[in-house]
Amino acid sequence: VIARLPCPAVSNAVGIGLLGVGTVGSAIAAQLHERAAAIGLRTGVTPRVVAAAVRDVSKPRPTLPSGVRVVDDPMAVVRDRDVRVVVELMGGIEPARSAILSALAAGKPVVTGNKELIAAHGPELFAAADAAGVDLLFEAAVAGGIPIIRPLRESLAGERIEAVMGIVNGTTNFILTKMTEDAADYGTVLAEAQSLGYAEADPTADVGGHDAASKAAILASIAFGVHVPVAEVTREGIESISAQNVADAKRLGFVIKLLAIAERTDERVAVRVHPSMVPITHPLASVRGAFNAVFVEGADVGQLMFYGRGAGGGPTASAVLGDVIDASVNLTKGTHAALGAFAPAALTPLSECSSAFCLAIEVNDRPGVLAAVAKVFGDHGVSIRSMEQEGMADAARIVFVTHRAKEAAVRVCLDDLGRLDAVRSIASVIRVVGVQ
Ligand SMILES: NC(=O)c1ccc[n+]([C@@H]2O[C@H](COP(=O)([O-])OP(=O)(O)OC[C@H]3O[C@@H](n4cnc5c(N)ncnc54)[C@H](OP(=O)(O)O)[C@@H]3O)[C@@H](O)[C@H]2O)c1
Repeated sequence: VIARLPCPAVSNAVGIGLLGVGTVGSAIAAQLHERAAAIGLRTGVTPRVVAAAVRDVSKPRPTLPSGVRVVDDPMAVVRDRDVRVVVELMGGIEPARSAILSALAAGKPVVTGNKELIAAHGPELFAAADAAGVDLLFEAAVAGGIPIIRPLRESLAGERIEAVMGIVNGTTNFILTKMTEDAADYGTVLAEAQSLGYAEADPTADVGGHDAASKAAILASIAFGVHVPVAEVTREGIESISAQNVADAKRLGFVIKLLAIAERTDERVAVRVHPSMVPITHPLASVRGAFNAVFVEGADVGQLMFYGRGAGGGPTASAVLGDVIDASVNLTKGTHAALGAFAPAALTPLSECSSAFCLAIEVNDRPGVLAAVAKVFGDHGVSIRSMEQEGMADAARIVFVTHRAKEAAVRVCLDDLGRLDAVRSIASVIRVVGVQ
């Protein structure tokens, strides 16, 4: 059977202004150029880069088609009369924010992959897009090439989302996967990740959970229709995860992942980023290396998982390209995608969040210690799911996994445990996700 492909009578050329021709910008330029004819046939629009802004205009830009005007002033691209859609891929807050606001004010739709900007200035930018009646699309801002913003915003628009949990930072997932599979310590694996280009020379934004927190704020905003300021996302990085923690998790049937979690708690939303022990049977446990995944739980749809490459020029540009086509089609039809309303968020404080916990405690190895420790758990209503004890000369290390308990109760319990004579130290506290 030979199917005849749809062939629109006319394909509208849409001039694209590219702000930034780096890793993602150069890939989107190449994809647009290579696929122009196919996109035109399929969608009726042919987006074409006509102008670009970079910092260094003398650098060769081999993926830009000849004839593209290359300047060092993003505003000149925004003002360019041939530019009808602006694609911001410079990163950072300024001049990206001003350029996007100017484009929107001029009635030009904007596509961006800038998670930092969307997380920090989303409401201002969404309001500007709404006022101008044009698109502001940002699929690439969370989990690179994985479609997650559009599914949440459109396909799941009527669903009651209960939770969104994501592995949204490839660097930390690479490090934790290596620590698990090679039984290596954090410092060794971080150095390897840096030498392979998976981690920056200054890895703080990734390993400290800052990048994941921006994405958690965006995911929470889209999934729950609330504005979540990134500063209010509870954040813990992976810097203190030890080879011992990873070995404990493995022995107990878990893997450690850095998760961005946004969940409904009554009528509020809890948003946090922290290392989490995930059962090896959970779909997120099998996400290895630099891959990303976002796991969604809805009241009716049940569990969904979106998996793929969360970074890199090609995959990220693929997400940008989808948005560019959408914005171009909408522009030619005189319409735009609805962003939805964003109410101020009532956020659940961490102290009121519940999860199971894995607690490693070092104690003096003498009779009665276990009973004293168990009594403290009981006094605070924290029930124990499993316990393992390992002797080390005159000391012992006890690893407890609790049932779900309020964060506040566990914190008070840990304070009281720390006051027991027999307790030498609270060696580690890791939340356990995906169990009751
Ligand atoms: N890379 C990824 O895998 C990935 C994944 C998801 C999202 N993103 C997001 O996509 C955006 C772009 O990332 P990227 O990795 O492509 O960045 P990049 O490689 O650093 O490229 C940035 C580009 O912007 C240009 N630029 C920066 N500041 C400028 C200014 N003030 N005026 C004019 N041009 C300027 C740079 O010019 P020069 O070339 O002259 O330096 C460069 O071409 C960021 O928001 C990032 O968070 C990236």
